[in-house]
Amino acid sequence: MGRTVVFLVLVAFLAPLNAAEVNLKNIMRELETNLLIIIESLLVDDREQLVLAAKEIAQHPPIPVSQRMLIAEELGDEMAQFAQFDQVVHSLSLELEERGLLNSEPELIRRVQEILSACVSCHSVYKSRIASVLAGH
Ligand code: HEC
Repeated sequence: MGRTVVFLVLVAFLAPLNAAEVNLKNIMRELETNLLIIIESLLVDDREQLVLAAKEIAQHPPIPVSQRMLIAEELGDEMAQFAQFDQVVHSLSLELEERGLLNSEPELIRRVQEILSACVSCHSVYKSRIASVLAGH
C-alpha cells in the first residue's frame, strides 16, 4: 500500500517532465531563447517581458537525474565548480528579475552582459566535454 502510494506520486511527478522531454540541451535552448527575449525587450523597452524572461532563466528546470549522474561521473570533484557556474547565472538572472522594472537601462544592460559572460564562462570550460559525454543520452 505504502509503496503503491509512493509509486503513484512518482508517476504524477515525473509525467509532466517526460512530456516536455527535459534534457540539458533543451534547457540550454530555453536559456538562449530567454536571453534573446531579454535583449529584444531592451530594444523595444518592454520591461515586463524582460522580467518574465529573466524569471524563466532563474527558474530553469533541473538537469534530469540520469544526465546529472553522467555529468558527475565525468567531472568528479569538478562538479562543484560546474554547479557554481550555474549558481552565478541563477543569482544574476534573479537580480535582473527583481530589478527589471526599477533599474536604469545602462544598469540592466550591464547585468545582461554579466549573464552572457556567465553562460560563456561555463561553456568555455565544460560545454564540449559534457556534450560528448551526453551525446546519445
Ligand atoms: C553550468 C554550465 C553552463 C552554464 C552556466 C550555461 N551553459 Fe549552456 N551549455 C552547457 C553545456 C554542458 C552544454 C552542452 C549540452 C549538450 O550538448 O548536451 C551547453 C549548451 C548550450 C547551447 C547549445 C545547445 C545546442 O543546441 O547544442 C546553448 C545555446 C546554450 N548552452 C546557451 C546557454 C545560455 C544562454 C546560458 C546562460 C543563460 C548558458 N547556456 C549557461 C553548460 C552551461
